[in-house]
Amino acid sequence: MARLESRYVCQACGASTLRWEGQCRSCGEWNTLVETLVRDAPRRAARVRGAAARPAGGDEPVPLTSLAEREVGRLASGIGEFDRVLGGGFVAGSVVLLGGEPGIGKSTLVLEAAAGVTPQGQVLYASGEESTGQLRLRAGRLGIADGSVGQAIQVVGETDVDRIVEQARQLRPGLLIVDSVQTLTVDGLDGPAGSVGQVREATARLVEHAKATGTPTVLVGHVTKEGSLAGPKTLEHLVDAVLTLEGERYAALRLLRATKNRFGSTEEIGVFEMTERGLREVSDPARAFLGDGTREATAGASGVAVAATLEGSRPLLIEVQTLVAPAAYGSPRRTVAGLDPNRLALLVAVLGRRAGIGLGSHDVYASLTGGVEVGEPALDLPLALALASSLRDRPLVAGLVACGEVGLVGELRPVVGLERRLREAARLGFTLALVPASGSGPVSGATVDRLQVMAVRTLREAIGVGLDPSRPAAAGVDEPVTAGGRVAGTRRP
Ligand code: TYD
Ligand code: MG
Repeated sequence: MARLESRYVCQACGASTLRWEGQCRSCGEWNTLVETLVRDAPRRAARVRGAAARPAGGDEPVPLTSLAEREVGRLASGIGEFDRVLGGGFVAGSVVLLGGEPGIGKSTLVLEAAAGVTPQGQVLYASGEESTGQLRLRAGRLGIADGSVGQAIQVVGETDVDRIVEQARQLRPGLLIVDSVQTLTVDGLDGPAGSVGQVREATARLVEHAKATGTPTVLVGHVTKEGSLAGPKTLEHLVDAVLTLEGERYAALRLLRATKNRFGSTEEIGVFEMTERGLREVSDPARAFLGDGTREATAGASGVAVAATLEGSRPLLIEVQTLVAPAAYGSPRRTVAGLDPNRLALLVAVLGRRAGIGLGSHDVYASLTGGVEVGEPALDLPLALALASSLRDRPLVAGLVACGEVGLVGELRPVVGLERRLREAARLGFTLALVPASGSGPVSGATVDRLQVMAVRTLREAIGVGLDPSRPAAAGVDEPVTAGGRVAGTRRP
């Protein structure tokens, strides 16, 4: 029997020391060191020589040209949106970490993927989160509990990582699913399930198994309050791909993104809808975030704009909603959902200094519909337009869509993929697009189908064009002085 050794492992960063200390020397966190018993020294996944996903060709150096011939085999999950984000399916020997908040739909997604894989082989589903009975109920709801699909999914209620690996070695499944890494324990390692030491070592052993046998493996991981996977970033470099499922828990839409992917793009997103019978692929994602259900309610309302965004190769039209109100006392509030708060602060400053839209003494609320999060700069212009519209209490011109980055002097900067955004907006029936004048792409007056393109140079100009001139400002609100004034070409009903 191996000698027992004691280490103090930081629960925040995973660093270990021999003595207890109040503060972790590695990350500076206080009171995070927990005594952990180690029996055998952790094996290093990197040392293991594996099948398909191992680096290069093996022990002997080989010319790069001979490697090019190797095709990466892909195991399709059968769910188009999932395969899209993976880059075409699961790669042999790869380990995918699927993260997301509790209740967002991770277990549902992996079970559906398991069902999709079954025509091509068996699936081993190790469930430590839920009892096998609960899993069976869920499978029933998804309509995959019976028949050949149900036959091919082997379920085991196991949390000991070595036993899971042993079962996988015997069964040789086409896909191994572990739900979740936080429930795993490693024999010989002290500390509760979910602690950094356990999660990291358990993951290392599963990675080792995946590489050695070529079994694609999916690990489900909960995201903590702070938004990190299993506390530290320690898992992310162990695995080949990190996917996150996001969305508002009480809304139906779910977005699947790759934040790391060794075998595909990290740009692509998958769009799903949570239904009574599991996650459904959204057939028209471009339209999904327009807030269709409330369209009548928000049509003609002030403070609302539509952004033409681009996620990877996929254009998405997203409704931006804002509300500005005089701050009652103290410093004004800035509250965002799905947006970068720093970006909002910057836009508020630029609007005030460069476009005559003073929000310095106003509370500002801004959100994107559908619980989607967007970080791209093209959102600047629609967000600024919505804020101006809210302050002036005048709606934007009907059928307007906008995109563009706003610079510090109030100038508009070009965005990538403008054509693609405009084509999608035209398809969805928008009639006027406000875009930055600089850069290549359609110029003012051009039309894409029935969408009229208006290229503008500055934020001030954009506000002049975008605010509907047919509706007077509400009483008590200053009439804006805009550089562009009324622009010929905008429709006046
Ligand atoms: P789940 O996959 O258990 O989430 P996670 O594994 O990320 O914690 O799904 C959680 C929610 O999804 C749960 O509140 C119920 C809902 N749900 C549906 O709306 N429809 C369904 O068909 C299923 C299986 C779940
Ligand atoms: Mg779950």
